Amino acid sequence: PPLHTLLNLDEIEAVAKTQVSKKCFAYYFSAGDDLISKVYNGSVYRSILLRPRVFVDCTSATTATTLLGHAVGTPLYVSPAAMARLAHPDGEAGIARGISRFGAMQLVSNNASQTPEQIVADAAPGAVFGWQLYVQTTRAKSEAMLARINALRAHFKCIVLTLDAPVPGKRELDEKSNLESAETVDAASNDKAADEKRPGGGGVGQQLFWGTAADLTWQTTLPWLAQHTDLPIVLKGVQTHEDAFLAAQYARRHPGSIGAIILSNHGGRALDTAPPAVHTLLEIRKYCPEVFDTIEVWVDGGIKRGTDVIKALCLGAKAVGVGRAALWGLGAGGWKGVDRTFEILQAEIDTCMKLLGVKEVSELGPRFINSRMVERD
Ligand code: FNR
Repeated sequence: PPLHTLLNLDEIEAVAKTQVSKKCFAYYFSAGDDLISKVYNGSVYRSILLRPRVFVDCTSATTATTLLGHAVGTPLYVSPAAMARLAHPDGEAGIARGISRFGAMQLVSNNASQTPEQIVADAAPGAVFGWQLYVQTTRAKSEAMLARINALRAHFKCIVLTLDAPVPGKRELDEKSNLESAETVDAASNDKAADEKRPGGGGVGQQLFWGTAADLTWQTTLPWLAQHTDLPIVLKGVQTHEDAFLAAQYARRHPGSIGAIILSNHGGRALDTAPPAVHTLLEIRKYCPEVFDTIEVWVDGGIKRGTDVIKALCLGAKAVGVGRAALWGLGAGGWKGVDRTFEILQAEIDTCMKLLGVKEVSELGPRFINSRMVERD
């Protein structure tokens, strides 16, 4: 069907499912164990109610904001997700093209199917990217990649260090589909298999994971990173107020180090029954709200509607990421499918802001929501 006839993200996902390979669908769709975190990531937003104000002139509303000091057109960003070319030859560069007219930030996966140089080659002026790092057991490989990203500083404005998956989650759908076709996949950006022999099997996720370090710590990893980049660090996969507090404390003690944290359970793909970002936002509000004043707090997981984005912003998030939604857009229609996905989300955000009586995202706050149903559990 023509893309303009698809009216929401579920419809785009349904079309993508008919266009991409079974293996691709299994890899993208899958999550840990019983998919409890994946499903709850989305449904938790349905338990938060909005509190619209009336008699407010909202003829126009803008989603423009800043992330780590860089101007962006929207708080909506693309989460790092591996292997976009499994869905469509446009790949990660196609995602960049698809989001370009919205001025959204794109975080590129360590396991992207195109190189960082290819992805930013035709980047729109002012487009903001971040590079996601899975630290490799062979540290020299990660150091070489950080040097490449440094050379692309005109485009890449942060290093996203993913912490929530020191080992891959148990994704049975992915594993099952790989039993049927045993060929292995490779990330363009990280030439993992070049000099080492990698075991086959175990699903795309487990194959990509091979070579990733599990020994990261507060004490060792951040000082090492600081030696190889001076871009701000974004810690991805924070799931408790304790770790959010530690990140803010580290940022205070080491100015210019951590710029943001991403509250995320990896789209439910790592530890099943880990909390959705909404719960962690509520914890931080309750136990260490000063975190919001020290570092930016970004969230991802389960975003399907503009109202989901607005609710996260009301709870204190500065930015909101979509992982699978961008991939489904790509699968449904290449870069144009990504453009349609963002067009829908941006229009829903705009409608939501106007119906709430808000003209700028900076006005959003807890007074616009009722999260009692979530706080109870
Ligand atoms: C991911 N995610 C991810 N995260 C990361 O830090 N590095 C990566 O390489 C990947 N790869 C990846 C592949 C696929 C297919 C998916 C679906 C996800 C997690 C991603 O950044 C994000 O946290 C979630 O996707 C957010 O949840 P939603 O939007 O997919 O519900």
